[in-house]
Amino acid sequence: MKNIVGIFAVMVLFFAMFMSCKKKNKEETKVSYTPSCTSTTPSFSATVKPLIQSTCVSCHSEYSTYTQISASSSSIRSNIVSGAMPKGTTLSEAQKNSIVCWIDAGKPNN
Ligand code: HEC
Repeated sequence: MKNIVGIFAVMVLFFAMFMSCKKKNKEETKVSYTPSCTSTTPSFSATVKPLIQSTCVSCHSEYSTYTQISASSSSIRSNIVSGAMPKGTTLSEAQKNSIVCWIDAGKPNN
């Protein structure tokens, strides 16, 4: 009977350790960053569109055209800055800057 109490205590301990580990991992995957833009506006057709095509469209087929990306741009911007997106993969700071700075420059169809 004493053993059962001991085993139970060990199980509770492992469970607590597992939960705290899980929480930590979740925080680490959501890395927010601070955008850094230069005076050169990124090109939509040469940079932003191919980047969204390769990183986002596998899950978001709705981000295929300029009109669709432009219409969702404020939500796209906040999700990239918070680190919530892209889900399951990462962008370099330079790649994030391309998308965010293009949005901040007024989303030109350039
Ligand atoms: C692996 C699949 C996947 C990838 C890749 C992905 N997303 Fe998402 N995205 C999701 C899912 C699922 C949601 C719904 C909310 C959630 O579960 O977090 C979402 C939600 C969003 C939202 C919130 C608005 C909405 O439509 O619900 C935005 C904006 C967004 N994603 C933008 C992007 C951008 C920009 C990229 C590329 C840089 C990207 N996502 C890459 C799966 C993905």
